[in-house]
Amino acid sequence: MLFIGIDLGTSAVKLLLVDEQGRIVRSVTKEYPLSFPRPGWSEQNPADWWKAVQHGILELTEHIDKSEVRGIGCGGQMHGLVVLDENDAVIRPAILWNDGRTAEETDWLNTEVGKDKLSALTANIAFAGFTAPKLLWLKKHEPENFARIKKIMLPKDYINYRLTGVHACDYSDASGMLLLDVEHKRWSKEMLDVCGVTEEQMPRLFESFEVIGNIQGFVSGSLGLPRDCKVVAGAGDNAAAAVGTGVVGEGGCNISLGTSGTIFISSKKFGVDPNNALHAFAHADGGWHLMGCMLSAASCNKWFCDEILKTKDYAGEQVDITPDDLGRNRVFFLPYLMGERSPINDTDARACFIGMSMDSSRADLVQAVLEGVAFATRDSFEVAKRLGLNITHSMLCGGGARSPLWRAILSNVLNIRLDIPQTEEGPGYGGAMLAMVGCGAYPGVQACADALVRVTDSVEPDPAIAARYEERYQKFKTIYPALKSVFPALK
Ligand code: XUL
Repeated sequence: MLFIGIDLGTSAVKLLLVDEQGRIVRSVTKEYPLSFPRPGWSEQNPADWWKAVQHGILELTEHIDKSEVRGIGCGGQMHGLVVLDENDAVIRPAILWNDGRTAEETDWLNTEVGKDKLSALTANIAFAGFTAPKLLWLKKHEPENFARIKKIMLPKDYINYRLTGVHACDYSDASGMLLLDVEHKRWSKEMLDVCGVTEEQMPRLFESFEVIGNIQGFVSGSLGLPRDCKVVAGAGDNAAAAVGTGVVGEGGCNISLGTSGTIFISSKKFGVDPNNALHAFAHADGGWHLMGCMLSAASCNKWFCDEILKTKDYAGEQVDITPDDLGRNRVFFLPYLMGERSPINDTDARACFIGMSMDSSRADLVQAVLEGVAFATRDSFEVAKRLGLNITHSMLCGGGARSPLWRAILSNVLNIRLDIPQTEEGPGYGGAMLAMVGCGAYPGVQACADALVRVTDSVEPDPAIAARYEERYQKFKTIYPALKSVFPALK
């Protein structure tokens, strides 16, 4: 039996072919364009996702007996608004999770509807990246498009729709729309009313591991997959990544250094951060989680290397940085290239280097970028600690997790052990695991995780380095408050 796990990311889709023992048989990555039509805006064309997924599946399965493929599960970039018309055609490009155009709508929701009411209805307050403020933006700025909406969905749901013809969404991803009553796992009628949409326009809700349907006949024909190949509802990429790193059930923690950076704490019980700095969402295992999300994580390093240093040799840029340098860098970097979500919720915030002097080197700046992301992760980690959560270790996944230097920096900045699973491809691997559960290869998500996820490496903090980083973090913490009022004026 083989399963396809899809990670519908922001820069590319990554597809994994996995057998039921969890072995990755093959992986394929297909990139697609990301457009920034204005500063702080971020859009993608759903047709590009679907084209990349189809090409990816064809390449992934070219040398195997395709009749062995039993199921498909997708973990997708969250919150993106995909709108379809009465012919199920995409009305406009998707507005993505890291798009900051909705500052006004977000403020309106948080002040006029009010944070307390939003939190009571959805367990969350409004953040610019969430889907509800995007609907309000569309209603105001593109009323003709808004009037044509027949179906509202999230990015991976569009792929599932193209595969099966079913309009479906899972609870973990739906949680990030600010339209779901997360505790009771049903659409919030009041929030739908606030946004001027109806339940008929929303997709049907499923648990992530539930089968939404078989692939459609013509998709089976074009991709060569068996007609009874099943598609599960899948999950938001962070919930899928948590499944892929075995962070299910009570009290596990997963940190992802992908385009975004997240810290994800799983729970069997529903719970809300009283200040709503962390998101309270459903999990893909049937439970819930709290999550802090930074909008730019590995993307900061990618931006700095690709765009500024003009190199693709990320590891080469890090070779000169030794353990002795850790915690001694006097250059700081604020990683707010797309504004920031958790915990500061500020669409105007921007990235900056600060603290340079004539002796600052290229390596210091590279190190500052990695450290800035680690310090910003610590900001959300501190919120979790204040809630009484005692996180002593965490799984680590995402592209950034491949860097031994970044692992060491993060472990020392957080002063916790980081465990590295056999694959850093969290969302794709988790997607494949959800498909295995949906197809009956395992009785549940926990059983599947127990059987398949292994820790292959661990990084322990070094007391001397951690102490130096503690002192640097206290300095880092003062930079954003000092600049906060400057950012809006820089627009
Ligand atoms: C989570 C979030 C990001 C995206 C990245 O709330 O917005 O992690 O899911 O794909």
